[in-house]
Amino acid sequence: MDVNAADIYDVVGVGFGPSNLAFAIALEENGADSPAGPVTSAFFERQSSFGWHRNMLLPSATMQVSFLKDLATLRNPVSRFGFISFLHASGRLEQFINTQTFFPTREEFHQYLDWAQGLFSDRVSYGSEVTGIQLPTETTSATAQYLQVNVRDCGTGDTRTVAARNIVISTGLVPQVPDGVASDERVWHSSEFLERFKQASPDTLKKVAVVGAGQSGAEIARFLYDSLPQAQIYAIIPSYGYSIADDTPFANRVFDSAAVDDYYFGTERGREAFWRYHKNTNYSVADDEVIRDLYQRMYMEELRGTKRLHLLNLARVTNVKRMGNESRVSMESLLDGGSQDLDVDALVFATGYDSMDPSGVLGVLDDYCLRDGAGRHRVGRDYRLVTTPDVSCGIYLQGGTEHTHGLTSSLLSNIAVRGGEIADSILQRRSVDGPAASGLTAPA
Ligand code: FDA
Ligand code: NAP
Repeated sequence: MDVNAADIYDVVGVGFGPSNLAFAIALEENGADSPAGPVTSAFFERQSSFGWHRNMLLPSATMQVSFLKDLATLRNPVSRFGFISFLHASGRLEQFINTQTFFPTREEFHQYLDWAQGLFSDRVSYGSEVTGIQLPTETTSATAQYLQVNVRDCGTGDTRTVAARNIVISTGLVPQVPDGVASDERVWHSSEFLERFKQASPDTLKKVAVVGAGQSGAEIARFLYDSLPQAQIYAIIPSYGYSIADDTPFANRVFDSAAVDDYYFGTERGREAFWRYHKNTNYSVADDEVIRDLYQRMYMEELRGTKRLHLLNLARVTNVKRMGNESRVSMESLLDGGSQDLDVDALVFATGYDSMDPSGVLGVLDDYCLRDGAGRHRVGRDYRLVTTPDVSCGIYLQGGTEHTHGLTSSLLSNIAVRGGEIADSILQRRSVDGPAASGLTAPA
């Protein structure tokens, strides 16, 4: 591939969810007066249009983070890309104030994100999947001034290659199901829930099970109970009961931007303490409101002598087998080790996600990325992957940095600040060292 310097993007972003959207905003605002001239960027998103966990846009789902932790406000409180600017542009600012909430619906926040992404239409290509990144074919040494990014058109299947001096990978969480389970038209992961649910005919859904005690499991159990008034709903959870997500003020400080430094520069023991004491701010827990809603429904059933919401607690799903039109779910009891089967018309695995793993997108370039003793990517404080000297371009991660940067890695809480830190890292290296700046800022 012959490339003129003018054809090399300063930045290519992989994925265009909230993280890269916040980064694009930071690049726009922080790079406005860049002494090295305008920053060129292109973002590639495999979905055909913008969508933020669309299959979990359940009617009553609310945000799990304050609207003030939007795409920009924590970095730049006067940004025109903040949630309040969106409300103002939509003519709803006063009405929103009257709701007296910090936690809008996911539906409204989705509208906000969609509004913000629309302001970047000149640099985003939808329906475009990044399939790999490599050093230029003619160069395998430190002289490489750019990386080649392969982009597949999801509609036609055609592939093209673009050149970039920096790459920001933000491909999101990876849906997780128990080993050996394969999804099909009646076995779904929560990440595909609404689409699958709409495809199924409601009268064929007489017995439905939801696996998992996290926010997704609780929200889906409530939704199914309310949407399928004739159906039996089984909630299979590994705990004794749903546990609450701790969002009390002191615990919530683990999501402050300052906590990233404490985590990154802390000891291994300190990092372990973050997880041990504060995992319950986010994982395998649900909001107070949805837990109480579910309990109230069960209680009303007691009152009325009817029963169609069944809690199968202290139970882990071990296997799923297709039996004609039904699926047979096998569970192990954590109480006595016994096993139990349940035949259902549909089964939803709200069993969570793995962290973002950049290896697939990096492809052969992953061989140039250094790992720590536990085999995890080494990452600078500025979210830049540590590479061998063969790679002088910047590869940045938004996600997949739980081991280096802590609990906010996969969440919205810190995206405004993180986007700014990555933008500043790129801009500073560009103005100090020229376009293909190198230099590593990694912990030993
Ligand atoms: P996100 O997954 O949103 O976006 C990644 C994008 O990359 C996707 O659009 C994907 O299509 C694209 N992509 C992937 N591979 C690609 C490739 N090879 N080429 C091109 N594009 C590619 N957190 C929080 O703090 N508060 C909250 O309220 C919530 N709510 C919430 C609800 C639900 C249902 C879930 C599952 C998760 C949350 N979260 C959350 C956590 C969640 O991770 C967070 O809200 C954001 O989605 C993170 O944004 P990202 O852009 O990093 O990933
Ligand atoms: P999660 O919190 O990781 O919960 C997964 C649940 O599945 C856990 O209870 C887990 O149990 C259970 N599980 C896993 N394997 C199992 C098995 N074989 N049998 C039985 N149970 C099993 O995942 P999530 O609920 O999808 O939440 C993921 C993220 O999305 C969180 O950040 C959450 O806050 C966010 N979210 C937000 C909203 C919203 O904003 N409204 C909605 C949904 C999700 P263990 O405890 O044993 O692991």
